[in-house]
Amino acid sequence: MCGIVGYVGKERCVEVLMQGLGHLEYRGYDSAGLALHEGSAIESIREVGRLENLGRAVAAQNGHISHMRTGIGHTRWATHGRPSQENAHPQVGGDGSVAVVHNGIIENFAELKEELVGRGVRFSSETDTEVMAHLLAEKVEAGEPLREALTAVLGRLEGSFAVAAVSAREPGVVVAARHQSPLVVGLGEGENFLASAVQALLGETREFLVVENGEVVEVTEASVRIFTQDGEPVEREPFEVDWDAEAVELGIYEDFMMKEIHEQPEALRATLSGRLDADGRVDLSEMDLDLAGVDRIVVVACGTALHAGLLGKGLIERLARVPVEVAVASEYRYSDPIGDENTLVVAISQSGETTDTLAAVGTAKAFGGKVLAVTNTRGSLITREADAVLLTQAGPEICVASTKAFAAQVAVLDLLALDLARVKGTAEEDELHSLGRDLRRAPEKVAATLALLEGKIGDAAGLFEDARCSLFLGRGPAFPAALEGALKLKEISYIPSEGYAAGEMKHGPIALVDEQCPVIAILGEGVLREKTLSNVEETAARGANVIAIAREDDAAAARVGRVALSVPDAPEILRPLVWTVPLQLLAHDVATDRGLDVDKPRNLAKSVTVE
Ligand code: G6P
Repeated sequence: MCGIVGYVGKERCVEVLMQGLGHLEYRGYDSAGLALHEGSAIESIREVGRLENLGRAVAAQNGHISHMRTGIGHTRWATHGRPSQENAHPQVGGDGSVAVVHNGIIENFAELKEELVGRGVRFSSETDTEVMAHLLAEKVEAGEPLREALTAVLGRLEGSFAVAAVSAREPGVVVAARHQSPLVVGLGEGENFLASAVQALLGETREFLVVENGEVVEVTEASVRIFTQDGEPVEREPFEVDWDAEAVELGIYEDFMMKEIHEQPEALRATLSGRLDADGRVDLSEMDLDLAGVDRIVVVACGTALHAGLLGKGLIERLARVPVEVAVASEYRYSDPIGDENTLVVAISQSGETTDTLAAVGTAKAFGGKVLAVTNTRGSLITREADAVLLTQAGPEICVASTKAFAAQVAVLDLLALDLARVKGTAEEDELHSLGRDLRRAPEKVAATLALLEGKIGDAAGLFEDARCSLFLGRGPAFPAALEGALKLKEISYIPSEGYAAGEMKHGPIALVDEQCPVIAILGEGVLREKTLSNVEETAARGANVIAIAREDDAAAARVGRVALSVPDAPEILRPLVWTVPLQLLAHDVATDRGLDVDKPRNLAKSVTVE
């Protein structure tokens, strides 16, 4: 939550910072601001609301600031203090000698504020960040170099943060540090960059340095120097990112959500590539984990990643006969969990920086569990906490609501289930290879689903015109898919939506059903299809407008549903991926029909770096 950027170098600081913030806006969009430094003073510009408001304020400066060469920027997801100009970052300390941008939370800010007020410091915002600005300013105004001042201030802070600062006394220098919030340095020629995430800088560089917890980095146009908290210099190897700059551009699409839904075949292809051969043999040797002793699995995750975990549980238990618990990370972290060194903890996180998921990993480590991270973000915090990592190769996901990362997470868990079953000897090799060959068809089947649904969502979306709420139903593997469909719809359309096990629906949610509560039913296959159909008939009998998700040739779908959304026939292992596509498209169209911004739903942020 919140995105920070920094730049030192050429006379293009404003351009670089604004572009970087544009690619970080998914992290929060309550306000945005810049602090620029040239000569002896720092100039700040801050605006409430979306980045475009800041863009207008910058344009109104008529080029006055465009030549500046040093600066920091911020896009905010409000934690302490409502979205307002005063609470926007950068926060300025002392007599304007220091400006600070911050992502995270300073948990002990109240006592630090009291201490500062006691020394006569006047506060102009309600933010926790302002204490940092004043603490820094006190030291800088007493003559300490900015880097040393930041090192000293870090020792006083509790919580999670990534912070960047400039000082009026040190032109051409940006310093930054982090603790439990992400920060990367981008390396350029005669210019250097800082950002919360690599996607902010893909238009500028592919070469990055990670900053570790507790380190302080000092960036100038010619150098990047990293120091420990004791002031010792640190040698750090750069890493290359192979994502394309176009991956973070809209291209032919009107929004990132639609673009990313359509990128699912490619995300699946890239994620499976090198891990599944033509005969269906899985190779996950990259994770270098001994799975033979694993007798229990705990999946920890939040949001969409949790739903991927629920799908993984089904397949792992069926094939590998290892019990799987799927835990909401924010609950798990404060539980008294059961586990030992034979417990494999699978932490799923697109961003790799979700605070609750990271804390749940910490909880699991306390009982000796081995941690496998499934993440889309190379070098993210979770990759450094985990014993092993399986990267999803979905490419950068910009839309706050996750789509292609979900597909890639499901594919990785499918691979894990097949591999675990092989190691455990719980399924015949032939069966595993056959499932593996089925899994190889994931890109093709998801592409076929997209093609089949092209231009077909309108009637289903139309049923939501007067909707008060909606109910997503499924059984077996269709149940997690229903949960994901409900989450997608509620998070971007703001229509209250529940995902429910179809058989359980009669124990409560059926009371919601009327003409203004569309029911979206994933019919599924086999015996569960028959059972689901009966449940859906029960809702139709009570006036529900049913949208049935079913195979093209499923005659019952047309009978029970006001609208049928057809999906192609697909092997069992691929069905959840195929069912999810119409649910994503439906959520998208319902929200856009309401004139909503699907990429930036209200109150949400893509990376949740607070508890
Ligand atoms: C937020 C996002 C969701 C995401 C969840 C977990 O709520 O809006 O799209 O599923 O965080 O994020 P992670 O990065 O850990 O997968």
